[in-house]
Amino acid sequence: MSGSKPRRARAVSVRGGKTDLAALESPAEVIARWAEDAATDESPLPRGAMTLVTVDGSGQPSARVVICQHLDAATGEVSFLTRAGTRKTRDIAACSRGAALFYWPKAGRQVRLEGVVAALDAGQTDALVLGLPLLHKLGARRMRPRAQPQAAAGTPLGGEAPPLVGGCVGYCLRATSIELWESRPLGGHVARRWVRAGDTARWEVVT
Ligand SMILES: Cc1cc2nc3c(=O)[nH]c(=O)nc-3n(C[C@H](O)[C@H](O)[C@H](O)COP(=O)(O)O)c2cc1C
Repeated sequence: MSGSKPRRARAVSVRGGKTDLAALESPAEVIARWAEDAATDESPLPRGAMTLVTVDGSGQPSARVVICQHLDAATGEVSFLTRAGTRKTRDIAACSRGAALFYWPKAGRQVRLEGVVAALDAGQTDALVLGLPLLHKLGARRMRPRAQPQAAAGTPLGGEAPPLVGGCVGYCLRATSIELWESRPLGGHVARRWVRAGDTARWEVVT
């Protein structure tokens, strides 16, 4: 313990349940409070929410929540949409290794996929966007970069329809390993992990 006097906690500004992050000097000022708030929050995870882990060029991993737009159980692939230029897109450009974790608290289940992440092409990205609910679809359309050159009103650029989503990119994580985990009564759990057999759609059990 250091000899300096503990500083009195500053009042953190919270309005309508939202924290004034710009006024914070340190994350320590709110993490405990947010954790406390979460302890009584029973709202379900959004449908399709998964934790995506990427790794930057120095080997530093980072994680964030994204929505899985497509899960292909047969090929062991999950796809998601994001904005070009986010930290995850920079990470993926530097290191293609990634992982995704689904957690379904009500059933007490997790699915962990580890593998290789790659950008989808424009057509595949558009197909994901078309599958979005209408409101999200409009949001994805707004992801178009502002600097895009404008054609004269009513004239499609280059004679072609403009892309459905400019700044929105689809990515696919192709698993090389999948683990299924399920809780059991009294705090126990069972897990089983498989690795992909070569570049096939067959899986070999590891544990
Ligand atoms: C429930 C939930 C769903 C989210 N879904 C997405 C998503 O599908 N795509 C996305 O880019 N960001 C999504 N986000 C925001 C990301 O967690 C993240 O903050 C943002 O993409 C910036 O990530 P970066 O660390 O790669 O810059 C979601 C956040 C939450 C809480």
